[in-house]
Amino acid sequence: MKVVLIGYMASGKSSIGRLLANDLDIGFIDLDEYIESEMQKSITTIFSEKGEIFFRKLEHEMLDKVLHENESVVLSTGGGTPCYGENMKTILNNSDHSIYLQLPVLTLANRISNEKDQRPLVKNIENKDLPEFVGKHLFERRQFYAQAKHILDCEGKTIEELVSELKLLL
Ligand code: S3P
Repeated sequence: MKVVLIGYMASGKSSIGRLLANDLDIGFIDLDEYIESEMQKSITTIFSEKGEIFFRKLEHEMLDKVLHENESVVLSTGGGTPCYGENMKTILNNSDHSIYLQLPVLTLANRISNEKDQRPLVKNIENKDLPEFVGKHLFERRQFYAQAKHILDCEGKTIEELVSELKLLL
């Protein structure tokens, strides 16, 4: 079974994905970590040395590779993965379940304000400007996220509760 988690930065894709894979007893892949290990460089370094367009090409190739090479996997994508090129189509055509982890703008902005360093797209945005930035960005991206097979409302729930709810969708 292939399960793909999508959603904005800091929506919990990696921590929820890891726990879900463990519970289902199947493999787990975090797309950002996969890219970092293939390139032997951090996402931040790839962005600063090669730029975002290079990163998006790489992200597209790695998404394709991971979905074709694994029969059974929980894959946590990067926040932008479904929003570029044909990536959302690739996800829909090559997974059994795609799940959008949905959270309100303010929750995301708060979480991001504590974890900006490893996120090149937001690291130069002042905390006071984050709600507006995230609001606009999410408005652009939501059309892609909303194509997921399932939408899971994550507000106010623990990771364990979310994993239990997720398992009911599979
Ligand atoms: C990005 C999100 C990041 C990472 C890169 C770009 C985005 O992943 O892929 O910094 O475009 O939203 P997370 O969603 O895990 O932060």
